[in-house]
Formats: sequence, C-alpha cells, structure tokens
Amino acid sequence: MQPTVARLANSTGQRWGGRRPARLYSVALLTAGAAAIHISAAVNHLPEYLPWGVFFIFLAIAQVALAVAVVLVPGRGLFVAALVGTAGIIGVWVISRTVGLPFAPVPWSPEPIGALDLTATLMEAISIVLFVLLIRRPPRPRTRGRVRIAIATSPAALLSVLAGWLAAGTALNPMPVAFNAAPELAGQASTSVVNLVAPAGSEPLKTFTLTAQVVTIAGREAWTFNGSVPGPVLRVAQGDRLRVTLVNHLPEATSIHWHGLRVPNAEDGVAGITQDAVGPGRSYVYEFIASDAGTFWYHSHQDPYKQIPRGLFGALVVEPPASPVRERDYVLMIHTLPGEATIAVDGHPNLYLEADPNETVRLRLINAASPDNYGTPLTPALVGAPYAIASLDGHDLNQPQVFGPEQITLGMGQRADLVFKMPSSGAVRLVGLSGAAKPLAFLGKASIATVTIGIGAVPPDVNVGRLPRFDLTSYGSRAPDSILDDGRYDLTRNIVLGTGPGFHFGDFNILDTINGRTSPFVIPIRVSKGQVVRLHIVNSDKDRMWHPIHIHGHVFSILARNGHRLLGSPVRVDTVLVGPGETWDVAFRADNPGIWMLHCHVLVHALAGMSMTINYDGISTPFTMGSRSGNVPE
Ligand code: C2O
Ligand code: CU
Repeated sequence: MQPTVARLANSTGQRWGGRRPARLYSVALLTAGAAAIHISAAVNHLPEYLPWGVFFIFLAIAQVALAVAVVLVPGRGLFVAALVGTAGIIGVWVISRTVGLPFAPVPWSPEPIGALDLTATLMEAISIVLFVLLIRRPPRPRTRGRVRIAIATSPAALLSVLAGWLAAGTALNPMPVAFNAAPELAGQASTSVVNLVAPAGSEPLKTFTLTAQVVTIAGREAWTFNGSVPGPVLRVAQGDRLRVTLVNHLPEATSIHWHGLRVPNAEDGVAGITQDAVGPGRSYVYEFIASDAGTFWYHSHQDPYKQIPRGLFGALVVEPPASPVRERDYVLMIHTLPGEATIAVDGHPNLYLEADPNETVRLRLINAASPDNYGTPLTPALVGAPYAIASLDGHDLNQPQVFGPEQITLGMGQRADLVFKMPSSGAVRLVGLSGAAKPLAFLGKASIATVTIGIGAVPPDVNVGRLPRFDLTSYGSRAPDSILDDGRYDLTRNIVLGTGPGFHFGDFNILDTINGRTSPFVIPIRVSKGQVVRLHIVNSDKDRMWHPIHIHGHVFSILARNGHRLLGSPVRVDTVLVGPGETWDVAFRADNPGIWMLHCHVLVHALAGMSMTINYDGISTPFTMGSRSGNVPE
C-alpha cells in the first residue's frame, strides 16, 4: 500500500471517529439509491394521488440529505435518527402492503408489491443493519487502503446502480395520465365514438337493469350484477333491441362490455375508449340490436383484471328465430369463485342438471374462469354420451359430426355449445374443468368442477389429459364463407405475442407484449371501412403460454393454423386461442367503424401489456385512459 493512501485513509478514519469508511459510503449509497426509487415513485404518484406524490418528494429529499450528512458529518446522533426514520419508512411500507393506509386513493386497501418497492425496502433494511453497526463503535479503528474501501463498498454501489436504473426506467415508463387511443386531430374531420350508436328502429325492445353491487356470498365479498355470481342470464331473440341500464352501487367505477356481440362502438363498454367508467352512484344505458344469434357473455371492462374475478360477469344468449326444438338448453358459465382460484359452474363446484332419457340437451359452455399465469385453457369433455359441437363463440358450425369424448381446449372468453342425446339410462358428465393451480402448487391442489346431467349411474372417471384433442380445423364440413372463399385481403398485419421483463406502468415486471410493445403503446392497426383485414398471429413462446386473442365488435374467420388451411366447417370466432408456438391466420371484414380493442383475454396478460386497438380512419374518441380519468380498460 502506498504510504500516502494509507495516510489518507488513516486520517479519514480519524475524521470519522474511527468508523469504517466503507460502511459510511455503503449506507450513503443505499440511502441515495432508495431516494432515487422514491423520486420515480413521486413521478408516478403525483398525477394519481397528490398527497403520496408530495410525500415521496419529501422522503426523497430527506434521504438525499441523510446520505450527504452520513459522509460529511457522521455522528452517533445522526445514525440513531436515521435508524429510527428508516425503520419508520419500512413500517409504513409494510402497512401499505398488508392492511393499507388511511390516506390513499382507496383508503385501507393494500397496494401491490412491486420490484421497485421491494428493492427500496431491501436497501433500507441493509442500511438499518449498517446504522446499528455504526452506532456500536468498532473497538479498534482500522485503517484501510482505498482499494479495500472501494471493494467493501462495491455491493452497496451495485445495489444503488440497480436502484438508479429501476428508478430511471420506471420514471420514463409511468402509469399513463391521460392516454387517448385515437385523439381528434386538428384540421382533420372525424366522427367521435360517442356518435356510433344503434340507429332508431322498431325492433322488439327488451329492457334489463343490471345493478352492480357488493354482496357477501358464502362469507366472501363478491362484486355482482344483481346480487349473484354469475349475474343473471339475459335471454333475447335475434333481432331484438336490448336496452340495458347499468346502475353502479359499487365503491368504484365500472362498465359493461358485451363480449362477442357486434354492437355499435359507443355501446362497447370499454372504459377509456368508448365511454368513461360509470362512477359509484351513477347509471348508464346501453342500447344495441342483437344481430347475431348464439352464446355470448357480458362483463366489466373497467379494471377487468380486478373486477371480473370478483364476479362482474354473466351470460347473454341470443336465440335464433326458428330455434330447433330442444328439450333442454343450459347455460354453463364456468368461472372462479370471487377472490379464489376455486373453479365453479354457475357458482357450484358440482352442478346437477335435469334431463330425461333420450332427450336432446344443449350445453352452452362459457369460459369466464381466470386461468393461471400461463393462461392454461380449460379442457372440457363430455363422458357418457357422444356429442357434437354445434357452435363456437356463438357461431354455428356446418354439419358438425357426433364424436367423443375429446378434450376441447377452451381459453378464457371462449364458448362452445355441445349438443347430445341423453342415453336411455344413466347420467352424462362434463369433466375437464380444473381451476388454476396456485403459484405454490404444493400448498393446495387445483380445484375440479363437474356437471352431471340426468340421474342414474355416472360414467366411469376418465383421464381427460389422455383424451384426444378436439381439432376445430378439421371438423364438420365445408361451406361457403365470404371471407375464406375470396382469399383476398386488403391488409395483412402480424401480431407477434411475446413475454419478457421490462418497464411498464411505473414498475419493472414480466410483460406480455404485442409486436414487442405493451399497451397502450402498441401501434394500432389502422383500417378503413370495407377492408378485409388478415391477421397473422404468432405465439413466440414455445413452452407453455396460451393467449386467447379477442377482438371487439367483429368476428374472425379462421383461415389457418400453423400454416395449414381449414379443412372442415368454416369457423367464426371472436376469440382465437393461440397455443404455445402456434401461429393462426384469421381475417375479419372491417364493417363496424370505431376504436376497437384486440387483446389477450387472460386478464393478467392484458394487464401486463397484451392489448391494442384497431382504429378506423376518421374516428376519434374523447375518452382517455389513465390516472386523470381513472379509466382502466385492461
Ligand atoms: Cu371479454 Cu375486451 O373482453
Ligand atoms: Cu395471453
């Protein structure tokens, strides 16, 4: 060691009362790093909730001052004060993540834990240990060289660099304040989405009221339409005019989206794009014509990641005018129980339905269940009777043959109508409905739901995973399909679905991306009315991610899977399930002007960025998403 360095280090050591300089540097760096994270938190919270923004600014200033003071004027009093203050910050953080704070946008509701606040808290916890060590003076001052001091300081320095990077990344990718998906542009005439309503007409009018309200079901809080989970089944005839009044008695804003129905854009229920979310105590009227017959559903499209699993969904069935005679017609909404991963059908893990021998039964399966983080689909299969799949997503298949049992991969949002004849004796059972395994799977088994139809002997158990998979690309028989047969597309767009770490909405997280970007910054698909648009959808994850990609306001004609053209019946769906490593080609006719969402229906994927819009030329929206309006469409 060079004598001068030793002398310097020695004199420094004396100036610092014999404390190890590395400890002081470390604690200063850690405190400054936490301050950087709090500055980025201030950037994110200021527009959302002013008191927190101001709090984080003061906290960051205090921490910077502390970091400087630790180096310049170290002393026992300072360390004791810093220890108490830092412990206090950790205490407030723990409360905010467990019971919630009284001063918050939503008082007493716990905040989610993110990569940033964990990093800041870890750094503060290490600082507390260092403050304790600094308060107990070392018995014998040691002198150290600069290199050794630098080495001893490097872990804290690395942590601070990480904190600075996280802080900069999140400050640059904040929660949007007021993002407009299709702003009105100066000097360009445009039609506002609010004007895209159903024309007046004399269709038979069906009126409904859906009251969003909090109730307790089996000891658990549920957010419901009309007090039940699922909400009421709305049954109408094709061509009816529906007028549905949403009354909001929830503590938060909400909306209703009519999943699969080709409604006018103003009635689509997407908070922040086609309307403002309907605040507590307010109401809103949706009006549209049920132009397509089939099995559909409705659900909140305001903060759906939170609101759908709490119970804000229900079935909507549109009967064709000449309904074939069917003795039994059951809607089976498959869902997770509010606040749980437990799977149920119409609220029951084991449902029993009536049917007499030889009766024809239609089961309208709707998958409203929140899957695991991979988006793993349900695999319903019927045992005890051969069956046909009469329709997918409400659209009839041509000449569906009777088969079975096979597992039908059904992603969230998708529907399948099964039709079968009851055997002359014994029951029929729907199996293959299993809930998401908990992240810590060993803590509890995935739940299983069944539906038993009829009475008498129950068919023997089958291993659903071993059953063949139903293949929609070679089922039924060919029929004319205007989009398929034409084979000409005005526009082809690639939709590449990916997963990876990154900054989004003021945090660092695993993101689900479309074309490498996350919502609301995925470049929209621009279309003009009348175009036929082809989408080439690629799932770049080869292992286990499933993405049910849902289009609003339109219906896809499926063209091909993995490059192989459809061999059987035309298949028309609003949600195409893109399995690991798969590619799907679909096309739709742009015949319903508006600003329409296209997103993964695995709610956690949509939240993590897998969402975008299809923007018609000449259409704009006055609504914005983000903290200013409180609209959260995904
Ligand atoms: Cu069923 Cu955009 O949703
Ligand atoms: Cu997905």
